[in-house]
Amino acid sequence: MSIKILYVCLGNICRSPIAEGTMQKLILDKGLSDKISVDSAGTADYHIGSLPDRRTRANSEKNGIKLTHKCRQLYTQDFLDFNYIVPMDSNNLADIQILSLTAFGTHQSEESCFLLRKFDPKGSSTDSVPDPYYGTESDFENVFQIVKRSNEAFLDWLIEKHKLF
Ligand code: 4NP
Repeated sequence: MSIKILYVCLGNICRSPIAEGTMQKLILDKGLSDKISVDSAGTADYHIGSLPDRRTRANSEKNGIKLTHKCRQLYTQDFLDFNYIVPMDSNNLADIQILSLTAFGTHQSEESCFLLRKFDPKGSSTDSVPDPYYGTESDFENVFQIVKRSNEAFLDWLIEKHKLF
C-alpha cells in the first residue's frame, strides 16, 4: 500500500498542481513511484475540471515539468483516503480544519496535516506559499522554487520516517 499525499490550495490551478507535479518527478527520479502517490485539490470550486492556469503550466514547462492535473475540489472522503494533507497557506489549512471538524467532529492532526513550508530550508513552519494568481511571471517562478525545494526536504523526511530505502 502506498503513502498517499494530497496537496491543497484555494483554486487548484496554481500552487497545488505545481506541488503535485514537482513531487511526482522527485518520486519518479528516486524510483519510489510504487511507494508514494500524489494528488491535489482546491478548497474552492471555481475551476473544477480545468487544467492548471496557463501561466502555471508555462512556468512549470520551463522548469521541465508538464502539468496535466484537472482541477478538483477537496472533499471529506479525502481525509480518509490520504495519509498526508498538505496545504499551501494558512487559509487553506484553516478551511481544511473547518471541513474536517464539520464532517468528523475532529481536526486533522498536526502529524498528518501541515503546511508544505514546514519543510522549506529557507522558510519556517508557519510560512505560506504565496498566492501567485494576481502576480507576475516572477511570482510564478518564486512559487515553483519554494514548492520544489520544500518537496525535496519533505521527500527526504518521508524516506526517513517510513524507511523507504
Ligand atoms: P491557487 O491560486 O490557489 O494557487 O490555485 C488561485 C487560483 C484561482 C483563484 C485564486 C487563487 N481565483 O480567485 O480564482
